[in-house]
Amino acid sequence: MFVVVGVTGGIAAYKTVHLVRLLVKAGHEVHVIPTADALRFVGLPTWESISRHPVTTSVHDDVPQVRHVALGRSADLVIVAPATADSLAKMAAGLAGDLLGTTLLATTAPVVVAPAMHTEMWRHPATQANIATLAARGVHIVGPAEGELTGGDTGPGRMVEPEQILEVALALRRPQDLAGVRVAVSTGGTREPIDPVRYIGNRSSGRQGAALARAAADRGATVTLVAAHTGDGVLADTAGMTVVRVGTAAELRDAMRDAAAAADAVVMAAAVADYRPAAASDAKLTKESADGPQRTIELVETVDVLAELVGQRRPGQLVVGFAAETAHGDELLERGRRKLARKGCDLLVVNEVGWSTGFDAATNDVLVLGADGTVLAAASGSKRAVADAVWDAVLAAR
Ligand code: CTP
Repeated sequence: MFVVVGVTGGIAAYKTVHLVRLLVKAGHEVHVIPTADALRFVGLPTWESISRHPVTTSVHDDVPQVRHVALGRSADLVIVAPATADSLAKMAAGLAGDLLGTTLLATTAPVVVAPAMHTEMWRHPATQANIATLAARGVHIVGPAEGELTGGDTGPGRMVEPEQILEVALALRRPQDLAGVRVAVSTGGTREPIDPVRYIGNRSSGRQGAALARAAADRGATVTLVAAHTGDGVLADTAGMTVVRVGTAAELRDAMRDAAAAADAVVMAAAVADYRPAAASDAKLTKESADGPQRTIELVETVDVLAELVGQRRPGQLVVGFAAETAHGDELLERGRRKLARKGCDLLVVNEVGWSTGFDAATNDVLVLGADGTVLAAASGSKRAVADAVWDAVLAAR
């Protein structure tokens, strides 16, 4: 592939050196276009030696070859990493004041963008609006990841690791083996109101379900993603899919029933509340209204959406469930098998969760069980890698 790597002025530029190295090692032709600001972080000789091609930031070099258009036209893929808040704003506005800007306007290749900035800048409505504009245009946004930032503070804003950017970029040329397949995926954690200011929720970030939806769309499927509460940035890259936002288990049930009616495969990756407060109070519960130092909230069971979808399964439709268990080894497998028997789904993805495992993590480790309880696949790694393994199992089961 002919890959253009745009580098903008952020400290994460040093990690992009490794990304370029990975691309070159994988046999791709890589042309780096740093902005003038990026060169304050990593200099021209580094980019030239690592990419093995001349590097310039200027539209005035190589004029006879119309370099600014040539690079954009030749590119099979454009990656911008790191993408600063400033560069995202420029991309969203279509500014073409430098070689990277002109190249981005001249290309029809897929564009992958890896934002990096401080949490406040990432969360600012201006940045979020720019991200939404770019995503709507089909730009693939990867990250930002959560973690320690340059100032010593923590939060979403770190550029994702070069290996993950590479994985997303290479996925763009994945075979379209889900073309013509309609899928409905649920994700995130539901929230059951106690009163206007409180709810019962869970720690699900929605990352695995979002990765399943992204993977399906990249492989050609028509995707409806029903999303309950998700973590920061989890829904940043939903280009080309229909996203339905829900809050409670009841709303998720309705949305999934609608989505499943036209789906060939249904995946219940959401963490759905098993119980909800019997009645949500219209007024905020106060200590004054309590009987003493204890308060009892009566909970009632919610509908088991997965079991219901299995009951309503159309001929040829495949229903996939998830099982989050605080167990491991044989015990994990046994619990998964019991859940499978209880729910009656076609495939069950079993994963271990704990205080620091599974939920809200970037990676996952799962077993995929077939309807009879046999282990069809074991997958671990990024949530995207796990997502692809689940779709492989779905394709095999169809
Ligand atoms: N699920 C559902 N509706 C619910 C609860 C769970 O559709 N009200 C789905 C989840 O989306 C998941 C599967 O059922 O695909 C298993 O969820 P899990 O929480 O692991 O199991 P539960 O059925 O809730 O059983 P338990 O909590 O007792 O293990």
